[in-house]
This record gives sequence, C-alpha cells and structure tokens, in this order.
Amino acid sequence: MSTDSHAIIKAFADLAANYEAVVDAELRRFWGWSYERFVEWLLDLVRLHEGSLRQDSLVLDIATGTALIPRKLVSGPEPVGQVVGVDITPGMLYAARQMIAPFNSRITLVCGSAMALPLVDGVFDVAICALGTHHMEARTLISEMHRMLAPKGVLAIADVAAHSAWKWPGIGTILRLFAFLYFLPSRNIARARAEAAAVARVHTVDEWRALLSECGFTEIRVAQPLGQRPWSPMPFAITARRGTTEAREATDANSE
Ligand SMILES: C[S@@+](CC[C@H](N)C(=O)[O-])C[C@H]1O[C@@H](n2cnc3c(N)ncnc32)[C@H](O)[C@@H]1O
Repeated sequence: MSTDSHAIIKAFADLAANYEAVVDAELRRFWGWSYERFVEWLLDLVRLHEGSLRQDSLVLDIATGTALIPRKLVSGPEPVGQVVGVDITPGMLYAARQMIAPFNSRITLVCGSAMALPLVDGVFDVAICALGTHHMEARTLISEMHRMLAPKGVLAIADVAAHSAWKWPGIGTILRLFAFLYFLPSRNIARARAEAAAVARVHTVDEWRALLSECGFTEIRVAQPLGQRPWSPMPFAITARRGTTEAREATDANSE
C-alpha cells in the first residue's frame, strides 16, 4: 500500500466517529449546503438517467465513508434493492456498521481500495463516488467504475472541481500550502497532509468530461449548481452511462 493510502487511512480513522458532523459543517461553510442536501442532490441527478435507481437495482458506493449514500438509497419512498459500500479505511466502515444496522439485509460493506476493487466485474447498475475522487488517481478510478458497471450502467461522481487557473505553474503549490494550513489547526496533521496531497488530484470538469469519454462513457451530464470560482473549491457532479463493451475496446485500441 502506498504512503498516500496510509495517510488517507490515518486521516479518516481519526475522523470516523465525528465524520458526518464534520463534513456537514465543512459543506455549510464552503457551499452553504448541508451534507444531507448534497447527497440528495447527487441522487436526484442519478435518477435523471432513466431506469438507473429501481427496486431491483444493485448499486456500488465507492469510498462510502459512514455509508450515508447507501442508507439513503435503501430507505425513502423509492428504495433500491441492494447497495455495496466500499472504503479503504476500516475505521470509517466500523462507524458505518453501527449506522446501517436497520438495513443490514440490503447494505453490504467491503474494505478495499477503489484503485483495485475486490468485486465481480460488470454486475452493478449504478456506481457512485462522492467526495472521494480527490484522494484517488482519476483514470484508475474511472476504469474501475467502468469495469464494475453492467452495460448501460450509470456512473455518478461528485466532489470539488478545479478552476482552470489551478493548473497554472506555481498555483498548485500555493493551494497545497493553503490546504495544509487550513486543515492543520482545524483538524490534525494526518488530515492536513491528506488534503494537501489531494490538491493535485482535483480536476476541472472539462478534464473529467474528456476522461469519461475516453473511458467509454456516453450521456455525460455535468452539474455545477454554484458555478466555479478561481479562489474556492466548488462542487460538481457528473453522471454518465457506460457504453457498450465494443466502444470501450475501440477506445483502448485507439490509445495503444
Ligand atoms: C470525504 S470521505 C467521503 C465519504 C462518503 N462518500 C461521503 O459522501 O460522505 C472520503 C472517503 O474516501 C475513502 N477513500 C480514500 N481513498 C480511497 C480509496 N483508494 N479506496 C477506497 N476508499 C477511499 C476514505 O477512507 C473516506 O472514507
């Protein structure tokens, strides 16, 4: 396991017991949204892809954290069949286990990395990754999501998007320093390190769109409800449909 992964596991193990309160406070501060509202917004975008969330759907939630997304999916007026939540941090899954107790028969938790998902190929109707992409290598994540999805399955990612100015030389270093100094006093050294390292993995929506298209996704839809500002990490969500296997094979052949 990489040094980065160790730093992430340490950061989220420390946070696990208070994760939902902490993320709620951070989203309210940066975006003026509650954590619940963010999750509902994302799930509503997934539902816009016809037939994605049904009573018999099998959904994968990558970097599930304390499993709020799985809990939302199996409860409410239109519950889905089964959800598998995967996370690399055992401490987060331990916290999640306490909270999924009422839904034990419908939610399965798996400890593993999104960079090499320990699950069967091609069986999921929907694969989601929320607030986790900035801790991961984007192309590997999208390839793994593609591998997990059944043909025509729906992908959904939501996280912070980079402004194009963040890609200018030197700006990345300033942002990394800013992230480190922001999280050090308000959280701890592990979270400060993990969030500073994550700056390099925050992408513009155009970069995400291009990557999804290269990896064989179609019906790519971008949502940026609060717009994009150069000085602030702003939310985005992208939903897309997995194309046919042939489309992916053609993409692979072109990139060789
Ligand atoms: C900010 S939390 C997001 C949790 C949840 N998706 C949510 O919306 O609240 C980020 C999560 O990503 C997990 N994570 C980071 N890198 C990962 C990886 N390579 N594979 C699986 N999980 C990962 C962390 O353990 C943490 O639980």
